[in-house]
Amino acid sequence: MTAENTTYISGLHQFEDQTATLQGWVQNIRSSKSLIFVIMRDGSGLCQCIVSKDDVPEKVWDKAGQLTQESSLRIKGMVKKDDRSAGGYEMHVRDLDIIQIARDYPITPKEHGVEFLMENRHLWLRSQRQWAAMRVRNRIIFAVHEFFQQQGFVQMDAPIFTGNAAEGTTNLFETDYFDQKAYLSQSGQLYGEAMALAHGKIYTFGPTFRAEKSKTRRHLTEFWMIEPEMAFYDLKLNMDLAEDMVVFIVERVLLDCRSELETLGRDVSKLEQVKKPFPRITYTEAVELLSGEKTKNLLDTMERDNTAALQAISTEIPQLEAEHGKAKKGRKFQIDRRLKELRAQREEAEENLRNLPVWRKSALETKWGDDFGGSDETLLTMHFDRPIMVHGYPAEIKAFYMKRDPNDDRVALGVDVLAPEGYGEMIGGAQREDDLETLRARIKEHDLDESVFDWYLDLRRFGTVPHSGFGLGLERTVAWICGLSHVRETIPFPRMLGRLTP
Ligand code: 4AD
Ligand code: MG
Repeated sequence: MTAENTTYISGLHQFEDQTATLQGWVQNIRSSKSLIFVIMRDGSGLCQCIVSKDDVPEKVWDKAGQLTQESSLRIKGMVKKDDRSAGGYEMHVRDLDIIQIARDYPITPKEHGVEFLMENRHLWLRSQRQWAAMRVRNRIIFAVHEFFQQQGFVQMDAPIFTGNAAEGTTNLFETDYFDQKAYLSQSGQLYGEAMALAHGKIYTFGPTFRAEKSKTRRHLTEFWMIEPEMAFYDLKLNMDLAEDMVVFIVERVLLDCRSELETLGRDVSKLEQVKKPFPRITYTEAVELLSGEKTKNLLDTMERDNTAALQAISTEIPQLEAEHGKAKKGRKFQIDRRLKELRAQREEAEENLRNLPVWRKSALETKWGDDFGGSDETLLTMHFDRPIMVHGYPAEIKAFYMKRDPNDDRVALGVDVLAPEGYGEMIGGAQREDDLETLRARIKEHDLDESVFDWYLDLRRFGTVPHSGFGLGLERTVAWICGLSHVRETIPFPRMLGRLTP
């Protein structure tokens, strides 16, 4: 086949009513007596390519007949505008070259369990929803760079092999570094502070590691973190920056990833509410809200809603099952789809009803000094329609480097940004302790070995200044923006408890 106007699907509009060539894979294929519909995927999008028996030489028709899901090929044809097709164009095929016929591709259009899909993650990435999530992830990454670069931040890289802990010693990954103990970085922050004192405003963007022993939908053992660090920023300026950044990221995704969000079934109206100002509440206020009447009412409503939903589902399912037997083919298909939906909803409602008593106990019994659990964070954010910033946590439950509130020594000048809709903490940040002697005392109080922090203490010996920063977890941000219930689908190859391959 002679290739003409080789292009990507995303560039087909340049070749309307002309011949063009696409290179890619068969996402899906359907055939009838005289027509074969190939849904072609090339990474940039999808395009329906129609092979008509009457319009192509017999050789081409035969080749098209051999195609299977995920076969790779080049295809040439006339580009036609078609408003019904996904990308707005379709191709009337003239010729095609098979690169490889794929046999027995394991991920078929039928349902697969998530464990099976995770085992086949290297192939699952080709599926439409996974493709869409990775596109959104990419747009978020780009938005982060746009945001900080526009504001004069310098991107710098922190090391991954480190000699000291940054975020507590309980979840460190230890490794051997030429007969010396080393740890995989939990956070680039301490290095970020050194870099900020050289460049003023910096951000790091790298992988970080935590030996999280629990299986939750929010925890990975390897995740990517964006960590700005700014000289002469106090907690207030730090919070302003975090807020501006989150708004910017959401705006950019809404601007450029509409079709991806649609593929993911994301309710974009929820994202459109993400505007300044974000509610800012103190930890003390958060404890009052969580243990008070408003949360109790919220829990009661949730219980009522879930019970009612479960009842409605339990009536509809047997009705549909009864109808299924005598239904025609088209209707059967509809019923199957609806049943699948209902069973998923039933599972969710049942899980909620099982969890609610635990959530209730945890929330209503919260006392000043307690850390918030995942369900507490979810309940807190349910009182608001956008991310919230909780600041002024008890120093006891926060890291050694946080500066204390000059008006209340029990309180650390730290902030967490909690995502709405139950996605939990997406940012943790603080103003840093900048006084040498106070910081040494904190290191001691936290039972840390001062000698490994000697270089870090130099930052307080030589030209110390007030400074602040925060860390945004990329995967939690992707999960929230895409509306994905588990972080395992937010990164190409997730690493978590019990998962090291593929
Ligand atoms: O709150 P964290 O632990 O803060 C720090 O590491 C600071 N040193 C950041 C700084 O001030 N420069 O983590 C920051 C964010 C969390 O809010 C969360 O979004 C994400 O990192 N994160 C995780 N994401 C996925 N899996 C995990 N196990 C995570 N642990 C934290
Ligand atoms: Mg945190």
